[in-house]
Amino acid sequence: MLDHSQSVGIQTKENNLENYEAAYKDFSWVDVEKAFTWSETGKVNAAYEAIDRHVMEGKEHKTALWYSDESRDEKYSFGDLKTKSNQFGNILRKYAISKGDRVFIFLPRTPELYISFLGALKVGAIIGPLFEAFMTVAVKDRLEDSEAVALVTTPSLLSRVPLDELPHLKHVILVGDDADTEGAISYEKEMASASADLEIEWVDREDPMLIHYTSGSTGKPKGVVHVHNAMIHHYQTGKWVVDLQEDDIYWCTADPGWVTGTSYGIFGPWLHGVTSVIRGGRFTPEDWYQTIAEKKVTIWYSAPTAFRMLMGAGDELVAKHDLSSVRHILSVGEPLNPEVVRWGLKVYGKRIHDNWWMTETGGTLISNYPQMEVKPGSMGRPIPGIYAAIIDDSGNELPPYSMGHLAIRAGWPSMMRQIWKNEAKYQEYFRIPGWYLSGDTAYQDEDGYFWFQGRIDDVINTAGKRVGPFEVESALVEHPAVAEAGVIGKPDAVRGEIIKAFIALRQGYEASAELKEEIRQFVKDHMAAHAAPREIEFIEKLPKTRSGKIMRRVLKAWELGLPTGDLSTMED
Ligand code: WT7
Repeated sequence: MLDHSQSVGIQTKENNLENYEAAYKDFSWVDVEKAFTWSETGKVNAAYEAIDRHVMEGKEHKTALWYSDESRDEKYSFGDLKTKSNQFGNILRKYAISKGDRVFIFLPRTPELYISFLGALKVGAIIGPLFEAFMTVAVKDRLEDSEAVALVTTPSLLSRVPLDELPHLKHVILVGDDADTEGAISYEKEMASASADLEIEWVDREDPMLIHYTSGSTGKPKGVVHVHNAMIHHYQTGKWVVDLQEDDIYWCTADPGWVTGTSYGIFGPWLHGVTSVIRGGRFTPEDWYQTIAEKKVTIWYSAPTAFRMLMGAGDELVAKHDLSSVRHILSVGEPLNPEVVRWGLKVYGKRIHDNWWMTETGGTLISNYPQMEVKPGSMGRPIPGIYAAIIDDSGNELPPYSMGHLAIRAGWPSMMRQIWKNEAKYQEYFRIPGWYLSGDTAYQDEDGYFWFQGRIDDVINTAGKRVGPFEVESALVEHPAVAEAGVIGKPDAVRGEIIKAFIALRQGYEASAELKEEIRQFVKDHMAAHAAPREIEFIEKLPKTRSGKIMRRVLKAWELGLPTGDLSTMED
């Protein structure tokens, strides 16, 4: 167990939250809603609240998006984003794409991604952002399950989209298509002639706006559906957790293909009318610090893997850059090691604030937020408006220091509203009446801080990315040499976990280093680089239950040299 007495002190700063307990007591989500127009009209559109509202309120010329990569450095004001998203909305309308249609966006992190995202929201479409690194199988699974009718992508990424296997996909909009691809709609050409006036589709608060696919331990990725109402939560946590203020230069390093990149890469900052820095391309440590120094970033939201990588890059590199603009640092996605928090305090002079939430929760629920004492290694405390607890299998709340399910009293603004076309999966999260079950185990200390322990299922968290072992196993057995595969997460100092595959080969195949590499590459090409096993071990036979299920916990115990536990269900 970690040392609970250690804390790194209280960060004092100006903020409208004066006292956590008092705020908790008087808190009401209904008060938060008053920040938005819908309290009068009953109708809403999150893109309007994020962009157009600020134009109406005189921030037309304020920078909303400050984009840079190796070759571009561009600023887009709230006025620019309003105009461009209107234009994009008009393109969609021209092709009869309307409310409820699934529009998927498969683009690198560029301004066009954000413009099409906002434009699609404005016509009431349901957006599916896809991570740029996805390969054919990953892309197909998502477009197929969601029955997407339109896809915004680039000519090079289009090569990973199996168009003839996707009967629902009617429109492909290509960004940067110099070759005039037949049958595709040109983003640039259409934008050049699209009207900047758009009649926004006003929707109900409970209308869906976003699908993020995420992994479980079984089956294909599931489509987690969020509704426009989620923005109440994004707004509120943007204020209390992220501490967004008028003059901030905010940098969230996450890609919108993951939920952090939408909740806090799009809605958080823009609902507050704050300037958001977007850095395209791949990151190097040098690049991270340069971005902060050049753009004078004040709030920096990233992930443990990134901080560990930066720690590995050394203290001298930090000293070479002026990072004095930074006021607040946040982290999410995996356990944040206490030594990383202490190192951050030493080299940045700031505490890294850990936050806990999930794709399904749509926004932060447990946080070391700026006003409170940070306990390194703890995820923090529930934010006002959220009741979290550690419960047993029957839903009884457990006392401090007992490990159990990390559960949330169900019903908060950004909670997912469905798993796309899979009601049974959705209900699994709520199988204990009144609670949302996270699938994480944790305990609480006597001050109400939550401490992460692990997952109850076999889901792997590698470099902050959630990977389902079943998906990787399915990809592996597609390879001609692989008879059976079992996949686990193996602890790793930088990535948190790495993916390790145990493979039984088919008759006639010899184990070799070349074969390992070939299999690894095979998964990379089919799914995504982050899903490919970094380690492969060939074994004779996989441990299985009598019903034929691979016993991953046995593989894990072998790997870690731990007792294998109850083997009564294992075959032979
Ligand atoms: C899973 C959710 C929400 C943004 C990114 C992750 C793990 C998340 C923490 C944390 C330890 C964490 C949990 C959770 N996780 N935050 N602060 N400490 N673990 O979203 O991909 O849906 O993954 O990430 O296991 O269930 P996600």
